[in-house]
Amino acid sequence: MRKPLVVGNWKMHGSREMAKTLCAGIRAAGDAYIGVEVAVCPPYVLLPQVADSLRGSGIAWGAQDVSEHSAGAYTGEVSAGMLKDFDTRFVIVGHSERRALYGDTDVLTVGKLRQAATVGLVPILCVGETLEERRAGSTEAVVARQLDALLGAADAAQLLSSLVIAYEPVWAIGTGETATPDQAQAVHAFIRARLGATAADTRLLYGGSVKPGNAGELFAMPDIDGGLIGGAALKCEEFVAICHAARTRPGRS
Ligand code: 13P
Repeated sequence: MRKPLVVGNWKMHGSREMAKTLCAGIRAAGDAYIGVEVAVCPPYVLLPQVADSLRGSGIAWGAQDVSEHSAGAYTGEVSAGMLKDFDTRFVIVGHSERRALYGDTDVLTVGKLRQAATVGLVPILCVGETLEERRAGSTEAVVARQLDALLGAADAAQLLSSLVIAYEPVWAIGTGETATPDQAQAVHAFIRARLGATAADTRLLYGGSVKPGNAGELFAMPDIDGGLIGGAALKCEEFVAICHAARTRPGRS
């Protein structure tokens, strides 16, 4: 059974004050989360505070990145073990902003994913094509390449067992332009087919300009198990409404 999952990616936004207010608001809307798993991913420095604000609420927290190393002389990096120490449940790896702006490759992303899985975090692996790639008709080839770095790993079966995958078309991120439900469903079905044996249990999220107005129709698609939310995750009412939209989506088995 795939329980619907809605994850807020705050990106590089927030402050202690904002986190306090937003977490209190999200926590107060408890009824919206019945039957839905909900998590927020603040910047690293806000994780301890978000953890304190959400502990005991059933709402989880996650990080937006993690080192591919377990410990050592890696100035500026944060290890999976450190995240686990703050009871972090999820970690996003391979977000298109990491890939485009910080050179995160498919192989590096799998290294990060492996670190996360090793300590028992749930990695959220992001995949997705640029507008040029979509226009060139290479959406499936790009997503396949991003997945194959994982599927070809010797420990693929182990890594796949705890994984969440987010399909985030780069052209839909922060642009207000959303993939249509049919466009998103087609790529989600492609991903699920490529995953093989574990596919039926793996949650596939859609990300890219998800708003209260389009969440319901996206989440109603058979292979879309929830969302990875950027801008709308910073607005309490919008995020709660999106979580509510996931409730109407029955768990799929
Ligand atoms: P937006 O919802 O702002 O388009 O961002 C999506 C995203 O990148 C989530 O990781």
